Amino acid sequence: MTVYAIASGKGGVGKTTFAVNIGSALSELGMRTLVIDCDIGMANLGLLINIESKKIVSLHEILAGKVEDVSEAINQTSYGMDVLLSGISIRGFKQADPEKLREAVGKLVDVYEVILLDSPAGISKESVIPLAISDEVILITNPELPSITDALKTKLMAEIVGRTVKGVVINKQMGTKGELTASKIEDLLEIEVLGVIPNDRSVTKAVAFKVPVVVREPGSPAAKRIKVVARKLAKVEETSEDSEDGKSRAKHEFIKRFLKAFRMR
Ligand SMILES: Nc1ncnc2c1ncn2[C@@H]1O[C@H](COP(=O)(O)OP(=O)(O)OP(=O)(O)O)[C@@H](O)[C@H]1O
Ligand SMILES: [Mg+2]
Repeated sequence: MTVYAIASGKGGVGKTTFAVNIGSALSELGMRTLVIDCDIGMANLGLLINIESKKIVSLHEILAGKVEDVSEAINQTSYGMDVLLSGISIRGFKQADPEKLREAVGKLVDVYEVILLDSPAGISKESVIPLAISDEVILITNPELPSITDALKTKLMAEIVGRTVKGVVINKQMGTKGELTASKIEDLLEIEVLGVIPNDRSVTKAVAFKVPVVVREPGSPAAKRIKVVARKLAKVEETSEDSEDGKSRAKHEFIKRFLKAFRMR
């Protein structure tokens, strides 16, 4: 059983999108998975997927101590994983005590093999608590400096609260000139790159249909890369597709470095 905090520092890098998709991909691999929307102030996980007969009880009521039984807030989905949504009202946010998250998650650790905590951006009580109660932290960044420096801050914060950072997922890779490479990001953050997900229109299209891209377009570039990360987390043997993916990335980076060195002469 592992509790992962999906965290970033900078907002809008793709944490919620990743949490929903990796959750679906892990359940596809046979792991009983729950995704919790820990963004109790700006909840939006519920907008990314269709949920039939949504539960009335949300994380807000659980954290406010109004409902004891956490299972009353858990929604099943058609995409494999279960989800615990946060409420959307300001009043609910004000009444919710983020400190109660540890107790709520503690009640679920025997039910699931993986719990993913979709964390809010920034450094606040709401964003640090998911880090502190996780077993491991997965950082999400975009391949640009502002996002990486914020990821570094979050990594330090995770270390301060005594957590291990499992690695970083680079999201929305455009492959443009000047974009930071995976090896550069690995050097800057001093953590393993778990995967590189391209900026892919299939992701935005899937959001419009409220279906995870790994379900709606499993063959799309983004879905394929997300599934590689899922296999890594689930410790499933690397497929030939994964190693080909890794090889072509290494080759691409080698050519880029070679060209750069050549131009500098
Ligand atoms: N790989 C991708 N390719 C294209 N668009 C993407 C990709 N990943 C995420 N997006 C888009 O980026 C936007 C932000 O994504 P998301 O809400 O998941 O980020 P977030 O880190 O959870 O944001 P916040 O910090 O506000 O919680 C969304 O419009 C989403 O559809
Ligand atoms: Mg989010």
